[in-house]
Amino acid sequence: MIVDNAEISLLNFYRASELHGGLILGQMVRRTRDPDLILQLTRHSAEEVMHAQLWTETIFAVGGRPGPVRDTYQNRYVERVGTPISTLEVLALTQVFERRVYRHFMLHLRRPNVHPTVAVTLRRMLEEEKGHLSWVKEWLDEQSRDHGIEVRDAMRRYAAADQNIYDALTAEYGFRSAA
Ligand SMILES: [Fe+2]
Ligand SMILES: [Fe+2]
Repeated sequence: MIVDNAEISLLNFYRASELHGGLILGQMVRRTRDPDLILQLTRHSAEEVMHAQLWTETIFAVGGRPGPVRDTYQNRYVERVGTPISTLEVLALTQVFERRVYRHFMLHLRRPNVHPTVAVTLRRMLEEEKGHLSWVKEWLDEQSRDHGIEVRDAMRRYAAADQNIYDALTAEYGFRSAA
């Protein structure tokens, strides 16, 4: 089964975005005091970096070569909404992103003629993203008790930006889902 250049570029974009996400979360650990948050962020960061490794291995396995790209999902967020600064902002944006990734990987998996190696990687990602979605949701729910308006505002703002970014990206990469 052949994986064309368009799909390799898409996988390379996944690779770069996983890595960028993992590095942002890892940087956050350095200015976090809450011991539980240190644990969660470190684990989350490590898993995103591992996802970057898995995409890299997947690209090689299907006959492609990974290459540097400045374009990542995270850079597109920054262009639209600025750099999220507070822990609340970063994690609200992370939650919006994780939801998007989950839905998008499901769509990718359902496309016709997905290479079996790519399908294995997608399934593993979907499994691990569930854990990311749930711990960040718990943390945001806890924050909502005292900062409900801030959490809701951030989520709304980021979700709107995300929709724009996603629409543009799928058009640029020619991504069509099976449905
Ligand atoms: Fe990931
Ligand atoms: Fe994730």
